Amino acid sequence: MASITKQIKELKKRKQEVSLGGGEKAIKKQQAMGKLTARERILKLLDKNSFHEYDMFVKHDARGFGLDNKDLHGDGVIIGTGSISGHTICIYAQDFTVAGGSLGFAHARKITKIMDHALKLRVPLIGINDSGGARIQEGVNALAGYGEIFFRNTLASGVIPQISVILGPCAGGAVYSPALTDFVFTVDKISKMFITGPEVIKTVLNEDISMEELGGARVHCETTGNAHFFAKSEDECFEQIKELVTYIPWNNSKKAETTKSSLPLKKFNINKIVPSDPRTSYDVRNLIKSIVDGSEFFEVQEMWAANIVIGFSRLDGNTVGFVANQPLVLAGVLDVDSSDKAGRFIRYCDAFNIPIITLVDLPGYLPGVDQEHAGVIRHGAKILYAYSEATVPKISVIIRKAYGGGYIAMNSRHLRADFVFAWPGAEIAVMGPEGAANIIFKKEINESENPEETRKQKVEEYKELFANPYVAAAKGHVDSVIEPKETRNFLIHAINVSSEKEVFIPRKKHGIPPF
Ligand code: HXC
Repeated sequence: MASITKQIKELKKRKQEVSLGGGEKAIKKQQAMGKLTARERILKLLDKNSFHEYDMFVKHDARGFGLDNKDLHGDGVIIGTGSISGHTICIYAQDFTVAGGSLGFAHARKITKIMDHALKLRVPLIGINDSGGARIQEGVNALAGYGEIFFRNTLASGVIPQISVILGPCAGGAVYSPALTDFVFTVDKISKMFITGPEVIKTVLNEDISMEELGGARVHCETTGNAHFFAKSEDECFEQIKELVTYIPWNNSKKAETTKSSLPLKKFNINKIVPSDPRTSYDVRNLIKSIVDGSEFFEVQEMWAANIVIGFSRLDGNTVGFVANQPLVLAGVLDVDSSDKAGRFIRYCDAFNIPIITLVDLPGYLPGVDQEHAGVIRHGAKILYAYSEATVPKISVIIRKAYGGGYIAMNSRHLRADFVFAWPGAEIAVMGPEGAANIIFKKEINESENPEETRKQKVEEYKELFANPYVAAAKGHVDSVIEPKETRNFLIHAINVSSEKEVFIPRKKHGIPPF
C-alpha cells in the first residue's frame, strides 16, 4: 500500500484534474463570454474558506454517442455546503465548460443530493444554472433527472428559501426548476431562459430571433416577470443575493434575524412626499423610505408590473414585506400582472413568517377589454386569495384613494387585516367622486339649468359625505385615522403586539388558489 504521503499526492492530483472542469480551452471560451467559471462563482458568493465540496469524483455511466469512457469532470456540476454571512447554505453550480453543463443522470443525482441536504438541514438552497439542458445523449435518464429536481423544488417550496441564479443558458424544460423557486436572479447579456430556442423557432415558425431577444435578462425582468432581479455583472448579482438573504429567515419555522433599529433618513420627509391633490402622482418608494429603518428598501421585481411595488425592509430592526400601489405607474391600479406579482410575494412572506405592510392608494382594477380577456378575474383573485390566506401580521395604511374592489383587495379589514390605519386625506368609497356623482345624481345634473355647475356641486357633496376616512372609521373598518408622521410608530407598535399572533383555519389538505 502506498504511503500516506503518496496517497495525499494522488488525491491532490485527482482534485486538481477535476477542478479544471472542461479544461483550459473551455474555460477560455467561458471567460470570453464574460462569464466566471462555476467554481469561481461559488467562491465569490460564499464566505471565504467556507465551501466544502461533495461528489467531486462522481462519474456518469452513460454509453453510446461518444460518451463511453469520456471523463466529464464532476459530471458538469459542483455541489456543496458553505455559508453566507456565517449562515449555512447548500449550493450547486452547473459547469458549462463540461459538456455545456448539460444534465445527465449523475449530474441530476448530485443536484438532488444537495437539495435533499438543504431540506434536511433546513437551510436555503442556491442553484446556479448555466447549462444546455437535458444531456441529449442520455435520453430519458436526463429527463428523469429533471423530474426528480422539479419534485424536490415543489417539496421544499415554503419550507426553505430557494434561490435560482441564471448565469448562462437555461434551456428547454430546465427553466422549470427556477420557475418553481422563490427568487430568480439574472445578469444582463449572460442569462438566457427559454423553452424552445431560436433554432426551433426558426424551424417551426420560420421566424428569426436572437437568444437575447427571446429570453435575455431584460426580457424576463421587464416583460415576462419570470425573474426577480437584474444585475449588470455577476459581481453585482452576488451582492444582490447577499443582501436578499439578510432579510429572510433560514427556514419556515424561524423568523428573520433582527438588526439594530435606526431612524429613516431626514431627506425622506413623510410630510412632503404625498401631494394632497389625489390626481397628482408620487413615488411610493420614497414613502416607504420615509417610514423604514435607515430608509433602506430592498425592492423585488422592480422592472415588471411597476404599478405595484413589493420588497423587504425593516421596522425597528424587524424584517417586513411591503406591498404598495405605485401612483407613478398607471395610477397604481391592480391588473393581471400586478396581482400576480403581489399575490406571490404575499404568499412568500406568509410562508416565511414575515409581517406584511400594505400601503394603499389606487383607483381600483384596470378597466378594459385587454385586461378582461387576459383574465383579470382569475389573476385579480390571486391577491384576494393570498391576503385572505395569509396568517402573518397584516397591517394596512390607506394613504389617499381606496376605491371599489381595490379597497377590498389591498388587505382590507374584511380579508382579515389585523390593523387598518388611514391618513386624514384618505378617500374610501365604491368609486371616485366624479364617476359616482355622474351615476347617482345623473337625473339631477341633466335636468338642472347649469349641468356642469351642478355636477361640480354634486362631486363636492359626494366627497364631503363619502370620500373621507371617517365613514369607514365610524364602522370600525379603519382602526385609527393617523397623521402621516405617526405612521412609523403605529406600524412598529402593530408589529410588536402581533408577534405571537395565532389564527385558526378550518382543517384542509390545501386550498385551491386561482393559479
Ligand atoms: C449534450 C450539449 C448540450 C446538450 C450543449 N452541449 N448542450 N451536450 N446535451 N443539451 C455541448 C455541446 O455539444 C458542446 O460540446 C458544449 O456543450 C458547448 O456547447 P456549444 O453549442 O459549443 O456552446 P454555445 O455555442 O455557447 O451554445 C450553447 C447552447 C447550445 C445555446 C446552450 O449548446 C444549445 O443550443 N444547446 C441545446 C439547447 C437545448 O435545446 N436544450 C434543450 C434540450 S431539451 P463540445 O464537446 O463540443 O464542447 C431539454 C428538455 C428537458 O432540456 C425537459 C425537462 C422536463
